[in-house]
Amino acid sequence: MKVLVVGGGGREHALVWKIAQSPKVDRIYCAPGNAGIAACAELVPLSAESIPDLMAFAQREAVDLTVVGPEAPLIAGIADEFAANGLRVFGPSRQAARLEGSKVFCKNLFRRHRIPTADYQVFDCPKEAAKYVRARGVPIVIKADGLAKGKGVVVAHDLDTALEAVDDMLVKKTFGSAGDRVVVEECLVGHELSLKVFTDGESIVPMEPARDYKRAHDRDEGPNTGGMGAYSPVPLVSRDVANTAIRTVVRPIVDALRSEGIRYRGVLYAGLMLTNSGLKALEVNCRFGDPETQVIIPRLGSDLVDVLLATCEDRLAEVVVDWSSRAAVCVVLASRGYPASAETGIPVHGLEAAGAMDDVAVFHAGTSRGTDGAIVTDGGRVLGVTAWGDSLGAARKRAYEAASHVQFDGMQYRKDIAAGVTQ
Ligand code: AMP
Ligand code: GLY
Repeated sequence: MKVLVVGGGGREHALVWKIAQSPKVDRIYCAPGNAGIAACAELVPLSAESIPDLMAFAQREAVDLTVVGPEAPLIAGIADEFAANGLRVFGPSRQAARLEGSKVFCKNLFRRHRIPTADYQVFDCPKEAAKYVRARGVPIVIKADGLAKGKGVVVAHDLDTALEAVDDMLVKKTFGSAGDRVVVEECLVGHELSLKVFTDGESIVPMEPARDYKRAHDRDEGPNTGGMGAYSPVPLVSRDVANTAIRTVVRPIVDALRSEGIRYRGVLYAGLMLTNSGLKALEVNCRFGDPETQVIIPRLGSDLVDVLLATCEDRLAEVVVDWSSRAAVCVVLASRGYPASAETGIPVHGLEAAGAMDDVAVFHAGTSRGTDGAIVTDGGRVLGVTAWGDSLGAARKRAYEAASHVQFDGMQYRKDIAAGVTQ
């Protein structure tokens, strides 16, 4: 089989790494990939968002399966375009991906189907939104409807911040048309967790739970990022909690979509809050998480390609998906200035020593080859150093040991990934 993976971050490196282990696969392409992915896939110099070019490539090379990593091409309808041209693709259709592409669509679906979520109202008029914010008081949450590069959610603890968020989105148009409408919602309190599943729109197969770290600095300080590390399993997410999440949130979402004529095929990623009054849905993403994939995928015992094919072909119920009981920890090494900005072109040292360790995989998130052929930084998140072991403690120790071999000027990372988590 020939497989094309679309995307070029740590998530895609983990997917390519696992797909390369499948005996079914003869050739793997990755568009655009990165310098680390080049070790196990042929790089295709096409952006993850240039759907017509990707389709022309997949047709020309007779690609048997295309796996889409990032949300943007899914929301733009890559799955529909590929399917319409007879190409097999893993990832939800444009309609299904609206769960992530439009918070208004997602919340209204929750409401229509009585899926537990924070109480909310939708506004396109700034005056009306401000009036509602004043009436509800703080804390309150303001969300831009569309994709806003992870910056479209403001959890406001004072009125000024809330009103400013409304103004930024609806008046100043900081997020462009993604902020044409806003969701103003109740602020939930509790433990946040997420659950990712494979689904073919009928069967649901949960992945092992993973926790990510969104803040840039230790003790959850500093700005929000794409994710600075992750670990799996998550003691907080017991089998009971996971089953409840499937029964009360994930299953109802999949069924709600199907009842409205939308079949969800791919990864469904539910962001949840465990509150005093039960589990509530915060948001839905239509893809694998990053960096969570870097700890989940190494724990998958089954052939990933079998799972992906079964999902695309509505026969997920037929495959056995098994997971290793070992723990995995991923530490993200980021560039100076991340997340506000990122230096690029800085030489990265020590990759061989880190990669040579047993039970370690150094996934590349943002790297390229410099003019002299050496690996250099090429993004905010540069590497995801992942290790596994018999316990979270052992995996953590190994991940930090591997990370200690790597150096580049301005390298920053959190020292507290999976610290103090008892299994
Ligand atoms: P979202 O993209 O909707 O998940 O929002 C990003 C982050 O904002 C979440 O991971 C939560 O930490 C926080 N958040 C979103 N909605 C709420 C809410 N209703 N109450 C409290 N925190 C929230
Ligand atoms: N790690 C969070 C995400 O993938 O959205």
